[in-house]
Amino acid sequence: MSIISTDIEKAVQLLTDAQLVAIPTETVYGLAGNIYSEKAIHRIFSTKKRPFFNPLIVHIPSIASLESIVTHIPEKAKLLAAAFWPGSLTLVLKKNRSIPDLITAGKDTVAVRVPNHPVTLALLQQLPFPLAAPSANPFGSISPTKAAHVEAYFKNDIQMILDGGSCANGIESTIIGFENDTPIIYRLGALALEDIEAVVGKITIKNKEEEHPEAPGMLARHYAPNTNTFLVNDVAAEIQKYTNKKIGVLVFKTSLNAPNISEIILSKTGSMQEAAANLYAAMHALDAQELDLIIAEKFPEVGLGKSINDRLQRATFK
Ligand code: TXA
Ligand code: MG
Repeated sequence: MSIISTDIEKAVQLLTDAQLVAIPTETVYGLAGNIYSEKAIHRIFSTKKRPFFNPLIVHIPSIASLESIVTHIPEKAKLLAAAFWPGSLTLVLKKNRSIPDLITAGKDTVAVRVPNHPVTLALLQQLPFPLAAPSANPFGSISPTKAAHVEAYFKNDIQMILDGGSCANGIESTIIGFENDTPIIYRLGALALEDIEAVVGKITIKNKEEEHPEAPGMLARHYAPNTNTFLVNDVAAEIQKYTNKKIGVLVFKTSLNAPNISEIILSKTGSMQEAAANLYAAMHALDAQELDLIIAEKFPEVGLGKSINDRLQRATFK
């Protein structure tokens, strides 16, 4: 029997029992557990095979719940929360003592967001505790944007996937931390940089592990398919280099019209939003075809194109 279900009551029961439930969000599916249950949090790390040094994001139902989790909210954090919550923004703020060290990997900050998905908001409103939820994939694999992706990863490990359809944004939340109350981007994500700067002004990006060792999740190879992947400006020229190879290509909007290759067009209308929403499903689909290599087209470095390039770049590391 499938573990995919729309039964919110059942999810409430399982989570209250320290079990894990995969939950839909507007970014990617999360593998959720009660933040105050040591058993549940241990289960998250062991199910994902995630190292304990990599802290988790706490999901809350509303801005009002933030007060019970953090000790200090910088002015610009208030502006960002007001502008983007519920939504694909994660804020890293000073945690209060109620937040277990296991969640934050011993750090004095906690990552928190209000997700923008009606099913998960309804679930969070019924629970007396917030949910810790990393993306619902084994450590280092492609994040899931459909219930079926989670099922393929974890059908033997968890009891329920709460179905919320395909994730509308399709890439992980943008993470913003604060250094002396000044906002810094720790992970590019589903919010376009320009939209964030419209709220808080010019913002520094410390998106790479070597620039920001405190954000241990930002490993260079992440979000990666098993198939060798390359990121190039000119896909048509690149495929000429490989003869007698089974090639998959991932292009933004324009078909190569080339014979004998598996091609996925991320948005025929040239919408970055649509391309982001389709990105991981396309990577899952190409990865399942036992190709020799995948060649992806670099996006224009504006708006969500920056975030998409970040994910494609990480997919190329081996
Ligand atoms: O869109 C998302 O954010 C999804 C959905 C499910 O909400 N979640 C997600 O979680 O992407 P995860 O665990 O795959 O990524 C969490 C990232 C990691 O890079 C981690 O290092 C960083 O957040 N993080 C968590 N707590 C942090 C902290 N206190 N300081 C700096 N980085 C932190
Ligand atoms: Mg992840």
